Amino acid sequence: MYIHKKNVFLDEIETTADIELPHDPLDRVIGQENVIELVKIAAKQRRNLLLVGPPGIGKSLIAQALSFHLTPPNEHITAVHNPERPERPFIEVKTKEEIENEIEDKRRAEGEYLSPEKVPDAIAERLGFKCVHCGSYNSAYQNICSQCGGDKFSHIQARRKHLGDLLGMFEMNGGSDNIPQDRVTTTRVVNDKEEVIIYERAGGSEIKVLDQRSLEERRKMVENKPRHVIIPLERKNFIQATGASETELLGDVRHDPYGGHYDLGTQPYERIVPGAIHEAHEGVLFIDEIIHIASLQRYILSAMQEKSFPIVGRNPQSAGSSVKVENVPCDFIFIAACNIVDLKYILPPLRSRIQGEGYEILMNTIMTADEKNAGKLAQFAAQEINLDGKIPHATSPAVQILIKEAENRAFLIDEVKNAYTLRLRDLAGVIKMAGDLAVMDESNFINKKHMSQAVNNAISIEEQILKRYKNFEKAFAEDSYSSHSFKQKHSPYPNENIDRSYL
Ligand SMILES: Nc1ncnc2c1ncn2[C@@H]1O[C@H](COP(=O)(O)OP(=O)(O)O)[C@@H](O)[C@H]1O
Ligand SMILES: [Mg+2]
Repeated sequence: MYIHKKNVFLDEIETTADIELPHDPLDRVIGQENVIELVKIAAKQRRNLLLVGPPGIGKSLIAQALSFHLTPPNEHITAVHNPERPERPFIEVKTKEEIENEIEDKRRAEGEYLSPEKVPDAIAERLGFKCVHCGSYNSAYQNICSQCGGDKFSHIQARRKHLGDLLGMFEMNGGSDNIPQDRVTTTRVVNDKEEVIIYERAGGSEIKVLDQRSLEERRKMVENKPRHVIIPLERKNFIQATGASETELLGDVRHDPYGGHYDLGTQPYERIVPGAIHEAHEGVLFIDEIIHIASLQRYILSAMQEKSFPIVGRNPQSAGSSVKVENVPCDFIFIAACNIVDLKYILPPLRSRIQGEGYEILMNTIMTADEKNAGKLAQFAAQEINLDGKIPHATSPAVQILIKEAENRAFLIDEVKNAYTLRLRDLAGVIKMAGDLAVMDESNFINKKHMSQAVNNAISIEEQILKRYKNFEKAFAEDSYSSHSFKQKHSPYPNENIDRSYL
């Protein structure tokens, strides 16, 4: 076993298999330490976040990791039938505690199970658990006592015949001579009040007891209005709404071809579909590339202000369009991500909302090239290999190549020396490619050779273009003309000078 260390030192590991990964998903985010500090505050204080930076540097990773730091949802949301106006169902919010009490009530409504020794003798006898002759207990399904051989019911029968029901408090269910009896209804006095109590045979060795409370629970359950759970207590607390449509984001009411007709159709309360904003209640609503939902931003703003948002049928042609549910809770932590160039497309009031109750964060694109951060990159490699699941671990020399490449990329892309790139999605691609090469090689580890080859192969299409065409202008020109037009525009020779003698 490895001792968990905060820092990984390259000269202390032979392969990435020697690196113990942190349990906290936020500690798996590399090179964004200052960002993570704010993210931890946001999780604790339920603040909003705007994460700004180029693709592949961990914006989505952070948003998801934040949700691990939230307490689990505590509310359960149900749409309840409104008998007076079915197209205006009610919303009912219950806490975890109320749900648990309800489960307890339900359990109670099913009655309590007791062993025959725990009920009054007369009842155990009447239900056939106790022998009237010798007083021993045995299965209620045997009419003859297995202890003394006596008929367990003859005594009672005889007594009934001659004296009527001496015990008085018993009332037979079914035919009066229907013996053995499987149910006894009687009364008992609790706090000076007389209440009904029912004892039922539950199999050969147990008695079910239904007291006043359980009988009331049963009555309540029958009276209960029809309802439909829209947001269950057990749910994810991270909801991705990237590129969501209006109905996906805000919810909808499904169409019913029978228009919710009482006998044929599905009632409106059953056709309510929550939106992502509702599913994110008590959790995180994450929207990557926020500009892709440009026109929906104002709804998000309104949801954030009200912490509730109605669900309506959004298709005017549908029978759902007449349905509206008010006050559906949606108290979420909003996390949006975008690139710097897209900042201007975020609705200003939405931004000021985030600023007012949260943090706008510019992500780091590089980190200093030092021993500690090299160790972080090794940890990153271990994480990616672990996540991929199909590739072997990397040797220390292979990781060294990856680190060199990270330094190279920081210079190429961000033009900073002595730094490592944090555009890690691309680097993850290199690791996976190296892993695939190792697999094809039937090697137990990604070694130096695999990593070098992957670095060489994993160059972006832009780099490939530059290699071939030297500059982008030339590449664009050659790419966008057909051979004919190209010849006309760029050929230094007039058409007639072209040798077509082969025709
Ligand atoms: N800072 C980071 N630390 C660790 N892994 C990262 C980091 N940034 C990116 N990655 C890796 O790259 C993948 C893509 O990152 P992602 O969070 O989707 O980037 P973004 O949302 O900024 O485009 C992640 O799933 C993770 O495997
Ligand atoms: Mg992303």
